Amino acid sequence: MSSARKRYRVRHSGPLRGTIRVPGDKSIGHRSLIFGALGRGVSRITGLSEGLDNAATREAFRSMGVAIETTEDTTTVHGVGLRGLRMPTDVIDCGNSGTTMRLLAGLLSGQRFGTRMVGDESLTRRPMGRVIKPLRARGAHIAGTAGDKPDELYPPISIAPLIEGEALKGIEYSMPIASAQVKSALLLSGLYASGPTAIEEPVLSRDHTERMMLALGVPLQTAGASVVLDPNLEWARGWQPFEWHVPGDPSSAAFPLIAAAMVPGSQVSVQDVCVNPTRTGLFDWLRLLSANVSHRPTGHGAGDEPMAEITVAHGTIRGSVAGGELIVRMIDEIPVVCALAAVSKGRTEIRDAAELRVKESDRIATMAQVLGAFGVPCEELPDGLIITGSAPLRGAHIESRGDHRIAMSATLLGLLAEGESVIDGAESVETSFPGFAALMRSLGASITEETR
Ligand code: S3P
Repeated sequence: MSSARKRYRVRHSGPLRGTIRVPGDKSIGHRSLIFGALGRGVSRITGLSEGLDNAATREAFRSMGVAIETTEDTTTVHGVGLRGLRMPTDVIDCGNSGTTMRLLAGLLSGQRFGTRMVGDESLTRRPMGRVIKPLRARGAHIAGTAGDKPDELYPPISIAPLIEGEALKGIEYSMPIASAQVKSALLLSGLYASGPTAIEEPVLSRDHTERMMLALGVPLQTAGASVVLDPNLEWARGWQPFEWHVPGDPSSAAFPLIAAAMVPGSQVSVQDVCVNPTRTGLFDWLRLLSANVSHRPTGHGAGDEPMAEITVAHGTIRGSVAGGELIVRMIDEIPVVCALAAVSKGRTEIRDAAELRVKESDRIATMAQVLGAFGVPCEELPDGLIITGSAPLRGAHIESRGDHRIAMSATLLGLLAEGESVIDGAESVETSFPGFAALMRSLGASITEETR
């Protein structure tokens, strides 16, 4: 799953202008593949991202006997039903994708065959105890691997089969941290359980799994940050195939849109972006800061997800404080918020974001280094950063540390820095945003790509 090393050379750029589309939402893409594979018949998905993360989920299902074909824009999934998956012929390679590993941990815990999941170097450092522990509590035979922290578990993950007559139990689980991956793992395992799955989060995380389950007739009830799946209520114990469109990924749209906010004279629109309220923290925050943001509804996608065309124009942005529930709704956008903070007026303070330390890289430490390299005054906090904006940016040489969102955030800083900036490890961008550099060039950004 690894690709050749790639380097971006980024130069100070003039105004960015245009209307574009971005790849399909990564979270919705994983889930569309999962629900398509478990459906009873042939589902069609349009707009699925060609990024490596969604590809990892697609390949996992192929290895479990699900036929999946892709033509230009349509992915056809020959669903095998809830009980139709076969034991994979080899280990499941989740690549860089934490969502693949955590969601499949839940789904595979309910099967009568065993599996083993591995990942790349970055994924192997990510905590898995958060899914393994509650899955074990409901009777799953799941094990992780010891690693850096003594009480934590890491990939690879091994799952032994449930034996004849054995089933996962119901569970009532109050999650210590908001996490859509953990919630989804428990809900997917709940499809195979003998009793209800009742989950409460401290703050509602992205709710794509719940929306899709409701759309497919799974007996689920939601109230605020609580959800209950009771498989013993009346339902068909499976679902019919579907035709779904994956809306554009707001976490990818954030890069060209924030670039427009940063570079004087710019205006960029992104079409058909997912505007599920659990994902729009960044745009809501920009509105609070009186940034030039507008949005025009454009319909609904997979699982009744609302879509909109979002437009951002350059304007002066003042620094502010972001914390609390807002952080959960923009957790993947914090690196790009840091880039914006570098050109904002005054101080930007990001709090309550300790989860960033266990993403594709330690995004607090990595962004602090990136900002420092560009000459931006910045203080690292245990749960966030304090960034002082408006200092002149100097060209920098950055290593992405295998983290796509770090590579793209550094690219945005390069657009306003003096001279040339070099972003190494830019191949990581392929996980979520294939074609990022070309799309940015089409808006007027000066970025060249070198493959080594
Ligand atoms: C995701 C959930 C989020 C997010 C990740 C994708 C998902 O993580 O950061 O990129 O698709 O469920 P959490 O599980 O921490 O919410």
